[in-house]
Amino acid sequence: MHNANPLPLTARAGRPLTGTAQVPGDKSISQRALILGALAVGETRISGLLESGDVHSTAQALRGFGADLVQEGPGRWRVRGTGVGRWRAPAAELDFGNSGTGSRLVMGAMATTPITAVFTGDASLRSRPMARVVAPLEAFGVTYEGQGPQARMPLTLHGAGNAKAIETTITVASAQVKSALLLAALNASGVTRLTQTTLTRDHSEKMLAAFGAQITVTPLAGGGETIAVQGPASLTGCAVEVPRDPSSAAFPLVAALIVPGSVLELPAILLNPRRAGLIETLLEMGADITITNRRTSGGEEIGDLMARHSALKGVEVPPERAPAMIDEYPILAVAAAFASGTTAMRGLEELRVKESDRLDAVAQGLKANGVDYAIAGDDLIVRGGAGEVAGGGTVATHMDHRIAMSFLTMGLAARKPVTVDDVTMIATSFPDYQDLMRGLGADFA
Ligand code: S3P
Repeated sequence: MHNANPLPLTARAGRPLTGTAQVPGDKSISQRALILGALAVGETRISGLLESGDVHSTAQALRGFGADLVQEGPGRWRVRGTGVGRWRAPAAELDFGNSGTGSRLVMGAMATTPITAVFTGDASLRSRPMARVVAPLEAFGVTYEGQGPQARMPLTLHGAGNAKAIETTITVASAQVKSALLLAALNASGVTRLTQTTLTRDHSEKMLAAFGAQITVTPLAGGGETIAVQGPASLTGCAVEVPRDPSSAAFPLVAALIVPGSVLELPAILLNPRRAGLIETLLEMGADITITNRRTSGGEEIGDLMARHSALKGVEVPPERAPAMIDEYPILAVAAAFASGTTAMRGLEELRVKESDRLDAVAQGLKANGVDYAIAGDDLIVRGGAGEVAGGGTVATHMDHRIAMSFLTMGLAARKPVTVDDVTMIATSFPDYQDLMRGLGADFA
């Protein structure tokens, strides 16, 4: 899988990284703010929105359903929604670019309105399974035509009229699947009950409550939870403050830990416990990270991070932690390559259906740069070089922004420069990445 016009970039070791990394708004929360705003009655005012390819694709799709979305300034958006169940059929097919979250959540949001829409995206998104979302939506009366058994895009979705609430257990550990079902439940009559055995990010639940939905979350004895939402719901537009994205902060954070002499500040980062698995793991590895000024912003926990170069040691990362750091395994593998001893990352099957097969893409990148690793089933085992990584490789990014940023990070501390074959996809989540990193001292050329 390749981009038509790839742009390679090389990272090399140089001076320590210092300063303040003002990372952009959280992608998951930005997507949800636009979608809920487009479903609500009245005005939603958003600040701190991530201005990136993925978020802009969603905004454009929501206009197709009849919502009014206006960018008033960088990160400042005003959304006027139609009301739940009042989206109209888009006149043209919806191109979600690289965005799995945008497309899957919008599928759920239109599923209980009797309209038809065609979903498509770039080569990466067209290769990803959509059956995990649209098959559970069938319980609401949805029908669809996708490509093959995984219902890949282009996918035509026919929303259901007069949908009734459902009760179901979600078997896949995915916040996107859960969120799609929650959004569909808004226009289904009765109480929809969704049980998830693995706890995934809960931004949809929190934000739905803020928009006035009747939603309750009940923990289960076995560790999962049941979410109940009353339909038909009416959502009311509100103010949304988007915190800074911990999944983007992960790149400068790990860079500071592996580049000798570095000291970085990362203010106002989202610290929702269901997103904080990387920080927890890095602290176990002996990372010098301090968190101060913990506070709440826009209904989410945030805090200021300070990270310094650290002698990391290998750890065992249990499979239960995967949902809280699902997007961070590529950069954790880079941190592990610089650690002393072995880091075992267990239970990574969900990595195979991300923007690329991330388990495979990480393995190829480690191999190209002389890192000792093994893949055993869905586990990734990295034997670190105690501060030394050979580097010198060229990494295939497979249209995956996080693979590109992870291996550029490796290049900042490896003995020889590391090249990634394409950086264009970084704009899907972190458009200012190169400028921000150069501003901290990174040598990219
Ligand atoms: C996301 C959920 C995760 C994550 C993705 C964003 C979300 O995907 O990988 O980047 O915003 O709900 P899954 O739900 O497929 O695990």
